[in-house]
Amino acid sequence: MKEEIIKIKESALEEISNTQDLKTLNDVRVKYLGKKGELTSVLRGMGALSAEERPVIGSLVNEVRAKIENALNEKEEKFKQAELQEKLEKETIDITLPGAKIKRGSKHPVNRVIEEIEDLFVSMGYDVVAGPELETDEFCFERLNLPKGHPARDMQDSFYITNEYLLRTQTSAVQARTMLANEEKSPIRMICAGKTYRREDDATHSHQFGQVEGLVIDKKERNVSLADLKGTLEIFVKKLIGKNCELRFRPSYFPFTEPSYEVDVSCFKCGGKGCSLCKQTGWIEVLGAGIVHPNVLKMNGYDPEKYGGFAFGTGLDRLAMFKYAIPDMRYLYANDIRFLNQFDRKDEE
Ligand code: PHE
Repeated sequence: MKEEIIKIKESALEEISNTQDLKTLNDVRVKYLGKKGELTSVLRGMGALSAEERPVIGSLVNEVRAKIENALNEKEEKFKQAELQEKLEKETIDITLPGAKIKRGSKHPVNRVIEEIEDLFVSMGYDVVAGPELETDEFCFERLNLPKGHPARDMQDSFYITNEYLLRTQTSAVQARTMLANEEKSPIRMICAGKTYRREDDATHSHQFGQVEGLVIDKKERNVSLADLKGTLEIFVKKLIGKNCELRFRPSYFPFTEPSYEVDVSCFKCGGKGCSLCKQTGWIEVLGAGIVHPNVLKMNGYDPEKYGGFAFGTGLDRLAMFKYAIPDMRYLYANDIRFLNQFDRKDEE
């Protein structure tokens, strides 16, 4: 019987050392130590032994059992370690790999222009102000020297919401609001950019467009003059569009300024030689400007004998076109990603 037990031990240990995976190891465990296992059946035969042999064989079986169990456990531990190792290797993350980039949107060219203009004027001491897009007839027209029935109202076809409220046709409404709100009559230097609306629907106009307005008011003795206006607009246009731009002032008419001017800029496309964009003139009209009309001062709480200043207004879309050499205004509002992508944070990265 002894030899039989030793043989069982040896073959068990050999089989254990030959196993390649947990499953076969388990089979070996069942084969030798299970209820119907080889060692168990040896134990069952113990009844036939003599009283002296029994403890000897008993302790031998126990010893062998412990050996086999040990070997099994050791091997099982090895397999588990290997499995863990494999898992760790498979699941390692290389934190030095570049991350997946999140596609960010970009600022619209018109908003870029607004920010640039605001920065420039703030650097010259202006305040940035805002006004409502849903405006009253009073501020949009009447307080700007455009009473009801004034023929110049025809220049701006409007979207009236009620008899009194309309979508503002010009940021000039903010001129009146700023003057009226300034009770101390301290000097005004303000810039205001925003959306404006007119009932226009041909190919070169959109019913909604952007304007920026500037207003400077000071005491008469400070003598805010046409020369100041000219100098300011020159800095503005050259800084925003380019040093090589030429400016041209033409006499014009606006009800809220006197004298009034229209300011042309040399065509960015042909450099002033004449092309389809500038209709062969070499010039493109960009600004309206002038000396604030005494009626406007009076209507908004300023004594025209004591105060004076200048105002100007311009279309933001035009400026964006100039600045980025965009040939067609409709690109600005078509929401075409191929167009907008071209402005992807170039100056921010
Ligand atoms: N508001 C005028 C327009 O929309 C432009 C302008 C502004 C003219 C300020 C003079 C002074 O046409």
